[in-house]
Amino acid sequence: LARSYHERVIDHYEKPRNVGSLNRQAANVGTGVVGAPACGDVMKLQIQVNEQTGVIEEAVFKTFGCGSAIASSSLATEWVKGKTLEEASAITNNEIATYLSLPPVKKHCSMLAEDAIKAAVRDLLDKREKGKTASA
Ligand code: FES
Repeated sequence: LARSYHERVIDHYEKPRNVGSLNRQAANVGTGVVGAPACGDVMKLQIQVNEQTGVIEEAVFKTFGCGSAIASSSLATEWVKGKTLEEASAITNNEIATYLSLPPVKKHCSMLAEDAIKAAVRDLLDKREKGKTASA
């Protein structure tokens, strides 16, 4: 790993938080799988919402990709926990890239994390919609 990387990237790369999988079928789990066309890296991020409070109580990821993508997704799982779906959707790749001091060529790695969060939220909202029509 290049020495120029910020210690926060190294930290999340060496000790990624919340690596894992949640039950994709569960009604309160949203799954986002996104890929970066530029490099072919793939990120899966899952969130689990407490139906009572509407708050994300669990978040996990699996990333097949570069160190910056792993660090970005690890950070994303930490940041979404304790947030509502709306708050989580408001997290931007810029915030992630700034926090990790990613160089410009690694911007798309943090973009992957923003996209993954949004995809996971959308998946969960889709499930809710379907749930409604199914019981209607
Ligand atoms: Fe593509 Fe980092 S190089 S996600």
